[in-house]
Amino acid sequence: MIRIDVLTILPGLFDSFLRESFVGVAQKKDRLVVSVHDLRGWTSDRHRTVDDTPYGGGPGMVMKPEPLVTAVEELVGEKGHREAHVLLTSPRGRRLDQAKLEELAGRKQLVMVCARYEGVDQRAIDLAIDEEISVGDYVVSGGEIPAMLMIEGIARLVPGVLGNPESIEMESFQNGRLEAPHYTRPAIFRGQEVPSVLRSGDHGAVADWRREQAHEITKERRPDLIEGAFGEEER
Ligand SMILES: C[S@@+](CC[C@H](N)C(=O)[O-])C[C@H]1O[C@@H](n2cnc3c(N)ncnc32)[C@H](O)[C@@H]1O
Repeated sequence: MIRIDVLTILPGLFDSFLRESFVGVAQKKDRLVVSVHDLRGWTSDRHRTVDDTPYGGGPGMVMKPEPLVTAVEELVGEKGHREAHVLLTSPRGRRLDQAKLEELAGRKQLVMVCARYEGVDQRAIDLAIDEEISVGDYVVSGGEIPAMLMIEGIARLVPGVLGNPESIEMESFQNGRLEAPHYTRPAIFRGQEVPSVLRSGDHGAVADWRREQAHEITKERRPDLIEGAFGEEER
């Protein structure tokens, strides 16, 4: 079982997301516990302020350190003295990939801090955050969707959540390569036929075909992945 605490100023964004699909299933099966906390609950002024103008000038606002550090420490304790791993969603962070998701899914407790505005006062990062994670080389307006991405990626890796765990093993990135194409009925659609090997009933031939297709598609679309996926002689 993995526990995830989310800190956000927009907790409502998570409502339907947490109820649906595998994230909902994982929680019903008690494999995943997600608690969403409103960061404004840790403010002390009448307006529940979480942001302020940046020192040195410049556009936008910056998230104040006090509510964020207090919230993290009240939820899971001080940095260096806690079991939980505290993540900040940030375009400056380590880029998320399947290996990172697997590592996160193996932890007991995570905290995901969702920033907004221009980002977070650096002292809050130094004092409360263990790791900054980016979901890609682009900028969105807040950390909520990046956090949902991570939660969804983690939920499907938690043992006992997916009906057929083999489907994970076959997936893109799991073995450092992209997945082979899929087909379902009908056998002929608008004149396009399903490759005959997939209808042959020969499991060995199907496995060989899928391996070859995976290799070809990875070579064409993501040659950077090939190194880890196949041995030197196969490249
Ligand atoms: C508008 S962005 C701030 C961008 C920041 N000023 C910069 O240039 O790096 C607001 C927040 O959205 C989240 N965010 C935006 N893009 C992200 C990404 N690619 N990965 C993870 N979080 C992201 C982060 O929490 C970020 O602090």
